[in-house]
Amino acid sequence: MYGNRNMAVNSEPPMEEPERQYYYIAKLQRHIEKESEKLGHILTASVITFGCQMNARDSEKLSGILECAGYRLTDSEEADLVIYNTCTVRDNANQRVYGRLGVLNGFKKKNPHMKIALCGCMMQEESAVEKIQKSYRFVDLIFGTHNIFKFAELLCTMLESNRPVIDIWENTDQIVEDLPVERKYPFKSGINIMFGCNNFCSYCIVPYVRGRERSREPKDILKEIETLAADGVIEIMLLGQNVNSYGKNLKNPISFAGLLKEAEKIEGIKRIRFMTSHPKDLSDELIQVMKESKKICRHLHLPLQSGSTRILQAMNRRYTKEQYLALAEKIRREIPDIAITTDIIVGFPGETMADVEETIDVVKKVQFDNAFTFIYSKRTGTPAASMPNQVPEDIVKEGFDKLLKTVQETAKKRVSLLEGQVLPALAEEVNTQDTSLITGRLSNNTIVHFPGDKTLIGKIVDVRLAECHGFYYLGEAVKMHDA
Ligand code: SAH
Ligand code: SF4
Ligand code: F3S
Repeated sequence: MYGNRNMAVNSEPPMEEPERQYYYIAKLQRHIEKESEKLGHILTASVITFGCQMNARDSEKLSGILECAGYRLTDSEEADLVIYNTCTVRDNANQRVYGRLGVLNGFKKKNPHMKIALCGCMMQEESAVEKIQKSYRFVDLIFGTHNIFKFAELLCTMLESNRPVIDIWENTDQIVEDLPVERKYPFKSGINIMFGCNNFCSYCIVPYVRGRERSREPKDILKEIETLAADGVIEIMLLGQNVNSYGKNLKNPISFAGLLKEAEKIEGIKRIRFMTSHPKDLSDELIQVMKESKKICRHLHLPLQSGSTRILQAMNRRYTKEQYLALAEKIRREIPDIAITTDIIVGFPGETMADVEETIDVVKKVQFDNAFTFIYSKRTGTPAASMPNQVPEDIVKEGFDKLLKTVQETAKKRVSLLEGQVLPALAEEVNTQDTSLITGRLSNNTIVHFPGDKTLIGKIVDVRLAECHGFYYLGEAVKMHDA
């Protein structure tokens, strides 16, 4: 479908995008073919994702270009080309990259043809790039989040010159559409509806590494969903750092709820998810659209971050504990079968045990179906990094453990409410630990494992939720769903 092998690669590259990238893909095809012949095997490439769903979607774009260029994609990092698509939201993500780069260097010493590339959010940090240039000199290609669409061109330049290439942009207002994509799952797909973030929560580095908020045109998004549906996709996840503010800055503004209503009309799509919702922008219109929809999944990820109004204010979240509680209550009232999940940070500067108790109070009141709890990580350049009263590690640990215990107890109680019910699950993959089981996902995002074989994958199956095991179920298939 993609790529034009007969493209004249000897003439000047076109200036327009995406044509320019297709020119470089054609050039890459010739280069890869020649190299593969020389080495006696088809060149292999591995793309490793370190970050969130948006990062994972970017990896699918990188994979699409590699596949189109003639690489054979593999999971093994002992490949001819390895790309790390990095994340920098918390420092441990960065540390993982440094650790694994050491291992890659070992592989590279065994295979001198090997090339190593780094991209993603961490590369938008000057200090990280400086460190890599100084201490990890074996890295061949570095680019950032804003120029990821130029991957084919950058890779081609690096391979042909056989010299390291570094290209980082500070920001962009460009959105380049219609480049190849290689999906991880044939039956479900993420779709970017917006890029960047304007919220500047005081702890968060994302606005600095992903740039200002930009929404894609609804017609481009809907066209992409139609193409995916025609290609067998039945579940889509609309992606953005704050989907609730989607469309506000378009020339012809449209609300996120409005976009959902349009997406719902697309035939073949059976399930619609989205990520992430900022509580301050969640509209009544959205609740109404979700309530009336047969396709929008019964799941809302609604990051709380803290239950203490004082801390929320210092975090620049722009809602209070009471406003969050009222919102969660309204959602539960309107859509009783919905699952609400959340993110929580413990150890924000100035946080006391009394603040953590406030957070625990919210967890108990809202009864989250799941909550991701993070220890605050200081990110250079964010306002919180220079706040006084950074919390000592042992106090953070105490609060974190107490919160985690409450989260686990309440989630278990909440998830177990479904025990005995028969509900449709999308069969996603063969269970990695027990291959006689299939792993499926309910509309409310709860995972259920049930006996079955891989012919079920990509289908919606009615499953009896037999045994609740905390966050997931063991069940049995009752019948195929024909809806
Ligand atoms: N845009 C999303 C969040 C993206 S980052 C939102 O606003 O909800 C995913 C999660 O990482 C955040 O919800 C937050 O809980 C966590 N996070 C972000 N920065 C962090 C930091 N400096 N330390 C610890 N956790 C952080
Ligand atoms: Fe970060 Fe806040 Fe933007 Fe989410 S909304 S990406 S937490 S700044
Ligand atoms: Fe990480 Fe970037 Fe996502 S910092 S969480 S990969 S937007």
